[in-house]
Amino acid sequence: MELKFNSDFAFGAATSSYQIEGAAFADGKGVSIWDEFVKEPGKILEGHTGEVACDHYHRWKEDVALLAELGVQAYRFSLSWTRILPEGTGKVNPKGIEFYNDLINELLKYNITPYVTLYHWDYPNALELRGGWLNPESPKRFQEYTRVVAEAFGDRVKHFITFNEPQIFLWLGYDKGSHAPGLHYSEKRLLTMTRHVALAHGLAVQELRRQILDARVGYAPTCGAAYYPYEETEVNIRKARKLTNGLEKDDWLYSSSFWNELILKGRYHLKCTELFGESLPKLTKEESDLIGQKLDFCGMNLYQGCSVSIAEDGWLTLGKQPVGHAKTGMGWSVTPKAMYWAVKNFYEEYQIPLYITENGMSSLDVISEDGKVHDPARIVYLSEYLEQLQRAIQDGADVKGYFQWSFLDNFEWEKGYTDRFGLVYVDYESQKRIPKDSFTWYSELIKRQKHLQE
Ligand code: BGC
Repeated sequence: MELKFNSDFAFGAATSSYQIEGAAFADGKGVSIWDEFVKEPGKILEGHTGEVACDHYHRWKEDVALLAELGVQAYRFSLSWTRILPEGTGKVNPKGIEFYNDLINELLKYNITPYVTLYHWDYPNALELRGGWLNPESPKRFQEYTRVVAEAFGDRVKHFITFNEPQIFLWLGYDKGSHAPGLHYSEKRLLTMTRHVALAHGLAVQELRRQILDARVGYAPTCGAAYYPYEETEVNIRKARKLTNGLEKDDWLYSSSFWNELILKGRYHLKCTELFGESLPKLTKEESDLIGQKLDFCGMNLYQGCSVSIAEDGWLTLGKQPVGHAKTGMGWSVTPKAMYWAVKNFYEEYQIPLYITENGMSSLDVISEDGKVHDPARIVYLSEYLEQLQRAIQDGADVKGYFQWSFLDNFEWEKGYTDRFGLVYVDYESQKRIPKDSFTWYSELIKRQKHLQE
């Protein structure tokens, strides 16, 4: 299928601060929970840390030139809260502001629109020590940080994403403990934190709108299990949708439905009272309105889905795949149809413009004899997912853009540097960047769109 998107569709790439910046303790930056967590023995594969990462803090100019060469119209990156406010609150670090100013100005020089994520998991350690998201003051601290960001960059940055995947940082950080800060909290505590994160989101949206009249604000959840019909039959389609919109005791925190009901509709999912009873934190009418205020768009991070297949006798199989089906380097199933169904189901439910804020695959890329990095599997992956995205748009979903994850190979959290998601290969020893074959493919795709539209 030929890929053809509208002229106002934004093609982009994405990264996050802790995963690429490095310079973890340079120029007055404060300590984040990730700076602390990576020091704990056994937490990160092979003991890797983000202390240097891709050294983007020093190589931003070269990296922006590569983004320009790639031809993207948009670049999604996150700000390191502690680079801006080392203690999470109070004193601003001018060097941090300077770094992001330089980056933003350089992007604009090449006509690349910045999409800024306020929070991609590197929480200030000073605030964590004061209870983190459990502290009732935490929404106000996020608002304060947002105010500083809006004042510093709002004249040039118009697109903002408040939170990246609240599901994942709460689930892995405070339930499973495999991400920073490595805790195992009770359900009651987790519920309290969801309320504070939701209020923080609401206050941030308000703050951005107050200061930047033409701000475009959204949030970027992961789409949970992204159920899709294995065989596209009526019964499978209905079941997949029901599972997508449903909620269970063991997956609520990870689900998309809990968060989308809360953030996009300002209310708890209908099933919450039954699941949590008295533990469910109360939301006043004002709080619901604050949390659920209208967003300009919603993001969706999508990598893989879970297939749904119901046999003639009614037997339900989840996660069915053809024998020998493709998997990514991380062992995630390649399921392009999840893109179509997740987008379609989401849009029909919430009717709000959407960006795919992350999509891509890890593979164990190597530099070949010819000095190049050949990654045909990534090209197949991206083209198949984009085809399904195009199909969803053709069927009525209002999708404004697509951000490939990730622009550079980077620090893949607890998996360290072993998994590579980039369009650009990073040799972590020399910090040399080598655009992979998928880089050329993506850049040609973007160029071709311009021709198709002429
Ligand atoms: C996160 C990224 C991460 C990617 C691949 C997403 O959940 O937002 O930070 O690198 O998945 O694991």
